[in-house]
Amino acid sequence: MQRIQSRAELAAALNAAPRPIGFVPTMGALHAGHAALIRAARAECATVIVSIYVNPKQFTAATDLAAYPRTLDADATLAEASGADLLFHPSDAEIYPPNEVVQTVDPGPLALRLEGAARPGHFAGVATVVSRLFDLVQPDRAYFGEKDAQQLRVVEWITARRTSAPPISIRRVPTVRDTDGLALSSRNARLSPAGRTAAAAIPRALKAAHDALAHGASTVAQIRAAALHLLSQHPELTLEYLDVADPLTLEALPDDATVNEALLTIAVVVDDVRLLDERLLGERSAS
Ligand code: PAJ
Repeated sequence: MQRIQSRAELAAALNAAPRPIGFVPTMGALHAGHAALIRAARAECATVIVSIYVNPKQFTAATDLAAYPRTLDADATLAEASGADLLFHPSDAEIYPPNEVVQTVDPGPLALRLEGAARPGHFAGVATVVSRLFDLVQPDRAYFGEKDAQQLRVVEWITARRTSAPPISIRRVPTVRDTDGLALSSRNARLSPAGRTAAAAIPRALKAAHDALAHGASTVAQIRAAALHLLSQHPELTLEYLDVADPLTLEALPDDATVNEALLTIAVVVDDVRLLDERLLGERSAS
């Protein structure tokens, strides 16, 4: 695996890279969730490029940016073992050259609710860096985790509007979970043993909602109640939001709506760590 830092080196490597090119953008601190994205790219692309860039524009608190884990050597080992051909880990100046005006990319209407409301400016930062990375890497396919379902929808939206650039197919990869069901995240390492036990109630609450729908519950209110019942048994969890939305538009579904298909999102804080998890409920969802 080749490690590359500059735009110029990347452009040279791209010239020699067979297509299709699969691209996995990350912020590093790689774990088995990222590895699943890289393996998915390896399975269907001639060249696999992974980027590691901790994008300052998507952080809403400077302290979070400073505290973000940076583990480049371990990341390189995992990326290579998962099938990457090229690791692009640019500096800030390569992504946002000081002599260039950075046009903020509009993340669109899908960015207004949920994480967009909780973290104003976050998705504009994501949309801007993903567009820049797409311009530099020029992939045929790009891989994103369903773990961040709203980010995926925002990326699909901005990609569809890149009409002057060659098309990029956005590929979805299912969430990779630990044995207790908790979605893998670099943040999980900051949980205390008691916090970790409480956090495992989040995927169980998602499953409770899924089961309720499968066993006769039909309205948003009933599904919410099933998930909330589970979370309420763990006082260590502070619920930020529990949202039932249309999976395509991400519009909130009213409490009395009948659910055919919905995206259930749970955001909680435990041990000062903010955790986010999602599950697609209904027709297209896996059991
Ligand atoms: P990061 O948090 O590093 O995540 C990179 C990719 O890995 C995202 O597509 C995310 O959804 C996916 N991912 C994270 N945890 C996962 C899990 N447990 N299972 C499956 N996939 C998982 O998301 C970002 O970085 C940034 O916002 C980025 C898109 C790179 C733009 O800066």
